[in-house]
Amino acid sequence: MATLTRWGPYTNMKELSAKGPRIIARAEGVYVYDNQGRQYIDGHGGLWLANVGYGRREIIDAIAQQAEALAWFPSFGGFANEPSLALADRLVDLLRPDGMAHVMFSNDGSEAVETALKIARQYWKVKGQASKYKYITRRLAYHGVTMGALSVQGVTENRREFEPLLPGVIHVPAPYVHHCSMHPDSRTCTYACARAVEDAIVTQGPDTVAAFIAEPVQAAGGVIFPPTDYLAEVREICRRYDVLFIADEVVTGFGRLGSWFGSRHYHIQPDIMTMAKGITSGYIPLGATAVSDAVFQAFWDMPAVGPEFRHGNTYSGHPIAAAAAMANLDILEREQLVEHARRMGLVLHQALTEVQARHADWVIDARAEGLLGRLELKDPRGRLNPGELGQKMAEYMYNLGVIVRPLGDVVTFSPPLVITEAQVMQMVAASEEALVRVQGESV
Ligand SMILES: Cc1ncc(COP(=O)(O)O)c(C=O)c1O
Repeated sequence: MATLTRWGPYTNMKELSAKGPRIIARAEGVYVYDNQGRQYIDGHGGLWLANVGYGRREIIDAIAQQAEALAWFPSFGGFANEPSLALADRLVDLLRPDGMAHVMFSNDGSEAVETALKIARQYWKVKGQASKYKYITRRLAYHGVTMGALSVQGVTENRREFEPLLPGVIHVPAPYVHHCSMHPDSRTCTYACARAVEDAIVTQGPDTVAAFIAEPVQAAGGVIFPPTDYLAEVREICRRYDVLFIADEVVTGFGRLGSWFGSRHYHIQPDIMTMAKGITSGYIPLGATAVSDAVFQAFWDMPAVGPEFRHGNTYSGHPIAAAAAMANLDILEREQLVEHARRMGLVLHQALTEVQARHADWVIDARAEGLLGRLELKDPRGRLNPGELGQKMAEYMYNLGVIVRPLGDVVTFSPPLVITEAQVMQMVAASEEALVRVQGESV
């Protein structure tokens, strides 16, 4: 019987009960410490998000001060609080180059996506095109766990137990250069995966498709970087067929790629953007969904007597979360962490490719854009099952004092943006040492 009363997220409870959880007790900068006092570099940024690093006094103080002044009051019924109004203004300012004009708050990434999906559906109803209700998404996409967000996920194992999900969700291939079924040679990539989006729209009928949703980089799917012009090409296809483009920036927002947002990094302007994670660097949960002027205008023009958009979470615009986000943005801007992430990303990329060069028979791909990186491995002896190598790597790296997240046989990197060059090198050295240990195993 289970010894733990806490049912863990995405957790094999039998395994966890047998082994016991690894308890992280405190954190500072890029380091976390377990309850025995052992130090680890958090190479995964606490699930892709500890952008400004741990223990930032400024955010802790902002949270405490806001809790004292006004811990909570709802934004329903015509009320508002100052931090959430100020944060919305600041986000819209920040997102102006990305074409965003209004923002609605929620509590996490799934809710931000859920909000985006509902905006897209109602948008077409408001425009008199109620038949446009379908969503196009990619294989291996991760957009969250609520039923709508889950429906547009492309990770089959995550979806299967909860079917039937939303009708009218069409999956197209991911732009996964190293596992491309359409064009296996990346040098002659002709963007067949972008044309697959067009094909899906045409096959379904453009008058039935509401939106296309995409993470600029598919993080949980294995850190899948798109070929250079893929997103711009799909953006153009969506425009041509009157399909809204939702950029899910839950991971790529707030500097992760060495650009403020993934959309900007890949030179696109979406119609709707979702954000969470790095918006507060994890000090407290917050989600946000931003829309373009054109999307907002459609709702504004409705002859509604009640709310134009019947949607909203109790905690939408939570004052403490908004205060934390403001302090988080102060740090990102003042310390120029986005630019720093770009510079450290070059170091990470170079170091990973050097590991690949030294272990060419074991490393299929090594790459980083900003501080999002991947080291994809394959056992040339064919002795390990898929996923085993990634697990072994993470285990060895943990013993070497670096926490990373294996996704299949991809070791993924997403450290806090405050990481130094020496710490990047230490993290990559641990991955190489782990690989050498795996190679030396007698099994
Ligand atoms: C791109 C993306 N969207 C949405 C989500 C869901 O966010 P949350 O887990 O905060 O609900 C995630 C979670 O990792 C994500 O990576």
